[in-house]
Amino acid sequence: MAAPFNWYSQQQVDGNGLCCEVTTECNGNENTSKHTAVTVPLCILADVQLRFLCPEDLEEVRTLCEDWFPIDYPYTWYEEITSSSRFYALAAVYGGVIIGLIVAEIKPYWKVNKEDRGILCSSLDDESLVGYILSLGVRRAYRRNGIASLLLEQLLAHVTAPERSTVKVVFLHVLSSNAPAILFYQRCHFRLHSFLPYYYSIHGKCKDGFTYVLYVNGGHAPWGLWDWMRHVAGAIVSLGPCRVPHWIWQRLLWAATLLSYHR
Ligand SMILES: CC(C)(COP(=O)(O)OP(=O)(O)OC[C@H]1O[C@@H](n2cnc3c(N)ncnc32)[C@H](O)[C@@H]1OP(=O)(O)O)[C@@H](O)C(=O)NCCC(=O)NCCS
Repeated sequence: MAAPFNWYSQQQVDGNGLCCEVTTECNGNENTSKHTAVTVPLCILADVQLRFLCPEDLEEVRTLCEDWFPIDYPYTWYEEITSSSRFYALAAVYGGVIIGLIVAEIKPYWKVNKEDRGILCSSLDDESLVGYILSLGVRRAYRRNGIASLLLEQLLAHVTAPERSTVKVVFLHVLSSNAPAILFYQRCHFRLHSFLPYYYSIHGKCKDGFTYVLYVNGGHAPWGLWDWMRHVAGAIVSLGPCRVPHWIWQRLLWAATLLSYHR
């Protein structure tokens, strides 16, 4: 069967320590190349190349994910992330070997599962898109070298590009016991949004999870009581103490007028 059609690009370090992006069309045995000028600062990790996954990566990606994650993903999942343009699936390659990868998906907010429906303020939810990180991992020998940070930076640059301004939040689920990943995401300014009891089923056992979020492009969480209190307090302070009784009196008059209309 012919390999599914896919686009992938390779970012290579140029002579200035910056990167140029080579976009390659991968369709079965045919490979045609075209160049798109993109600069990516890779001063420290100069020997690491970034490129999108392609169908030929399937077995390598599968071996890595089986090592990193206690979850058995179906074969079709690997087929999809290595071939479908629906996913932002970026690999960090060193010496011809994949040493890290990130897989994310951009989708409308209304497609988000019900347990995560509260991540955006309701005034933003109709047209908004969200970025969901399905997978992020780095080969054990290469951890604490900034590889995951590099991959995440690329994703964040992608979702904050002007043409994706409707993406309002990037979020993910993580096992509550996965301390390294939690510390990593916290270091990258993700914030805990919710605790998901028994969210995962791992080898027949239920395990708790967390949802972590990072707001982008002006996205924000729904306002809680504390936010409203801060807002009202801020408004009162900005009025000045002598105008507060007048301000309250005016609101009471408005409320009374509205009530009399509705009688
Ligand atoms: C989580 C993971 C992706 C981090 O990858 P990495 O390439 O080592 O991360 P980075 O080098 O970019 O780390 C950046 C910062 O995150 C924090 N961090 C990352 N791993 C950490 C760990 N094991 N312990 C404490 N802090 C850690 C540190 O602050 C680190 O900065 P520092 O090295 O200067 O102290 C990696 O540990 C991994 O692949 N884990 C297995 C797969 C997994 O659990 N993925 C997440 C699923 S949601």
